Amino acid sequence: MLPFVTLAVVLSTLKGIFAVSSATIAPAKVVLQSWGVEVNSSLRRRALGPANVPLKDYFNGTDLQWFGGITVGTPPQNFTVVFDSGSFTLEIPSTQCGASCSNQRKFDPSKSSTFVNVGGTTTKTFGTGVGVDPVQGNNWQLTFSCARDTVSVGGLVAPGVNVLLITNQTSTFSPDPFDGIMGLGPALQSGTVFNSLVSQGLPAQFSLFLTPNSVGQAELTLGAADTTKFNGSLTFISQPSSDGNWELPSSGISVNGKTTTTLKKSRTIIFDSGTSSLTLDANTTKAIYAMISPNIQPHGNFGAWGIPCSQIASLPAQLDFTFTSQSGQPFNLTVPSRELNVGPFRDAPTICQTFIKSLDVDIIGGSLLKHYYNLWDVSGSRIGFAKNGMFLMLLSSVVSNLP
Ligand SMILES: *[C@@H]1O[C@H](CO)[C@@H](O)[C@H](O)[C@H]1NC(C)=O
Ligand SMILES: *[C@@H]1O[C@H](CO)[C@@H](O)[C@H](O)[C@H]1NC(C)=O
Ligand SMILES: *[C@@H]1O[C@H](CO)[C@@H](O)[C@H](O)[C@H]1NC(C)=O
Ligand SMILES: *[C@@H]1O[C@H](CO)[C@@H](O)[C@H](O)[C@H]1NC(C)=O
Ligand SMILES: *[C@@H]1O[C@H](CO)[C@@H](O)[C@H](O)[C@H]1NC(C)=O
Ligand SMILES: *[C@@H]1O[C@H](CO)[C@@H](O)[C@H](O)[C@H]1NC(C)=O
Ligand SMILES: *[C@@H]1O[C@H](CO)[C@@H](O)[C@H](O)[C@H]1NC(C)=O
Repeated sequence: MLPFVTLAVVLSTLKGIFAVSSATIAPAKVVLQSWGVEVNSSLRRRALGPANVPLKDYFNGTDLQWFGGITVGTPPQNFTVVFDSGSFTLEIPSTQCGASCSNQRKFDPSKSSTFVNVGGTTTKTFGTGVGVDPVQGNNWQLTFSCARDTVSVGGLVAPGVNVLLITNQTSTFSPDPFDGIMGLGPALQSGTVFNSLVSQGLPAQFSLFLTPNSVGQAELTLGAADTTKFNGSLTFISQPSSDGNWELPSSGISVNGKTTTTLKKSRTIIFDSGTSSLTLDANTTKAIYAMISPNIQPHGNFGAWGIPCSQIASLPAQLDFTFTSQSGQPFNLTVPSRELNVGPFRDAPTICQTFIKSLDVDIIGGSLLKHYYNLWDVSGSRIGFAKNGMFLMLLSSVVSNLP
């Protein structure tokens, strides 16, 4: 998710639930491969190795968010978090949070010998929320007190990192099956879990395998790519600069193989693992939907669009986002037609919401990311993509089982 900062949207994400993960350290057989990183062999002995964290899918008719386990404190207390490329900070509920956090696990500072109270209170308002529900003013907001403690993820231990303890939250967060959010923004910021791991020798990269619910096996890999999860090689796209978001320059968008002057223009697109679908500026959104069906219309006042559910299944709606690979070739990232439908609106169950919301910022989220294995390379300032072949294979069996 993106934190909402004045006009510039910042990413930030969600919060989570159940305990998932126990870490799998890379086995002797090399399946976790770090890319473009020279590790000094005398350092290697002490450096942290790559680690996998299994992820669960928060699925409610459509894939909403992916989350996995971490621990905080000594002895460790378990939490689940969304691993959010759209933010930097770690947020988990605290025992100070009352009824508003009743569905989430709460961190008890009095039970941690490594806990440090930093003091101060802050709030964070998100520019995109959890799942596909629209942002309406301040309806996605967390209130925190600031602390430091030891955090571990995938068995890798990060001592003394900043933890924002949630003391109140808007009701929009209550149904979430995860407790908190852990940021994985595109820079090494001091006080973050990722920076602490990198300072202990972990290569400054992580990978996400965000699969559809029917496929499973979703995974975060810290410090490497898990080469058992894709075939072929990764195609990298450089991030020329960053204002704090993972963002890549695109030269244009095509809809079902066709483009228009509105769509064929350069834009910078934020890549956010904490956003479940897509957001684009209003003119672009309108131009894309006009090429899919005139019956796709705005729904409500908060950027959502929809169409009668009875009409949606048959619509071709393939989006190709064109980028330039590091080797200088045009490279498309594709959202297939089946992502068009993100499910019925709660306030209008016969109308199905469609995959793009109009917002002042362009964001690619889960609807595209789940069709690729992706490696987020902080030191190389680039993101690599490989087709999610497992998905294609399983999809054919899923499709043949549909009623
Ligand atoms: C914490 O999670 C781990 C790994 O899933 C599990 O083995 C352990 O029992 C959990 N601890 C508690 C107190 O729930
Ligand atoms: C590896 O690091 C050690 C300690 O910093 C240094 O002495 C050694 O020369 C380095 N080796 C290489 C091959 O860079
Ligand atoms: C928590 O936030 C809600 C608004 O989301 C507010 O109405 C309530 O008073 C707050 N509770 C506390 C204890 O601050
Ligand atoms: C799932 O969606 C239904 C229908 O929109 C809603 O009533 C329910 O609260 C949702 N459940 C969760 C856990 O989000
Ligand atoms: C990207 O997609 C567009 C529209 O479908 C197509 O014309 C173009 O050939 C594709 N480019 C590559 C490199 O696949
Ligand atoms: C959107 O389109 C309108 C009407 O064509 C135009 O006036 C406006 O400048 C456009 N906005 C952007 C951000 O391109
Ligand atoms: C790689 O390709 C082979 C042959 O098409 C397929 O059986 C296998 O499942 C693929 N593996 C992954 C991880 O995509």
